[in-house]
Amino acid sequence: MANLNKELNNYLANLNVMSMNVRNMHWNVVGPYFTALHLATGKIYKALSCQIDEVAEMMKMQKMEPLARLSDFVDAATIEELEARDYNEYDVMDNFAAGGQELMKQAQEIRDQANDDDNFLVANKFEEYLCCYAKMEWMLRAMKIDENNVEEDD
Ligand SMILES: [Fe+2]
Repeated sequence: MANLNKELNNYLANLNVMSMNVRNMHWNVVGPYFTALHLATGKIYKALSCQIDEVAEMMKMQKMEPLARLSDFVDAATIEELEARDYNEYDVMDNFAAGGQELMKQAQEIRDQANDDDNFLVANKFEEYLCCYAKMEWMLRAMKIDENNVEEDD
């Protein structure tokens, strides 16, 4: 249980940093894909906010202690905070992919640990999150803009 409490707090910390990073890009995205990426980041930000609340409340249901201070989230997170600056479409895709991979890896570890502990509430919820990450991975792959494969005019 203690182990799972710590892993869930690390995950909660990463969700919070990722959520701020997505909001940063929602505000600061620039370039020809502005509208699509502004809307997509807005949707992802809302989904992350729901997940943050769900994870913290699931921890409370299990008599665990969720972190609840921004400074604690930054300390516990393994995802780096992004600078406040302009982000083009390549930056946005790279940041999504990197943060998403970290969250997915952690979610798998938590699901496995919860299964070992016979904690079905956490295991089932994280199974659900893993399905969402798999869908997001597919969407990112489908949207991938290859900067090395741009056709040049003669
Ligand atoms: Fe907005």
